[in-house]
Amino acid sequence: MKTFNDYYRNQVKLSFDNHPFSKSPKHVWVICRYKNEWLLTKHKDRGLEFPGGKVEQGETAEDAAVREVLEETGASIAHIDYVGQYHVAGKGGTIIKNVYFASISRLNEQSHYFETHGPVLLAKLPEGIVSNEQYSFMMKDEVLPCCMSQIRKKFLRK
Ligand code: GTP
Repeated sequence: MKTFNDYYRNQVKLSFDNHPFSKSPKHVWVICRYKNEWLLTKHKDRGLEFPGGKVEQGETAEDAAVREVLEETGASIAHIDYVGQYHVAGKGGTIIKNVYFASISRLNEQSHYFETHGPVLLAKLPEGIVSNEQYSFMMKDEVLPCCMSQIRKKFLRK
């Protein structure tokens, strides 16, 4: 378990154990890979981030991950793995989010992308995201580098 502060100085706890904070988290975040590139979305207010959002009534967290990726990027998922879970103690309450790693099979053009401007493909995530105003606050704490290194170790290294 790692503990650190996020961009807004809220306390974050991140773990790669099996659902340590909640068996039914209400939020999901999906690190997506398509043809050797990272697939992000451009949120209308927050900027560039990996897709994700809230789990709706009657959905599992994994259902929500598949739906949010499709809504925000048009991507169909070939394979999805649970990576970890994080807990944010925010001023307005606590949120618990599952992180997934998804391999994308297809990018479908959509007429709209919900609250985003749609897909953005990057061969490499840039250095200095923390001070890059194009990027969402969600990409600016230790969750991103820790999950990327876990994904490299567990899913990308053969
Ligand atoms: P809506 O209900 O969709 O309007 O959004 P909201 O921002 O009010 O609600 P949400 O429950 O998504 O998030 C509440 C707060 O939790 C945000 O304002 C952030 O401070 C925090 N939060 C949400 N997601 C993340 C995340 O991935 N990382 C961090 N560090 N904080 C998050």
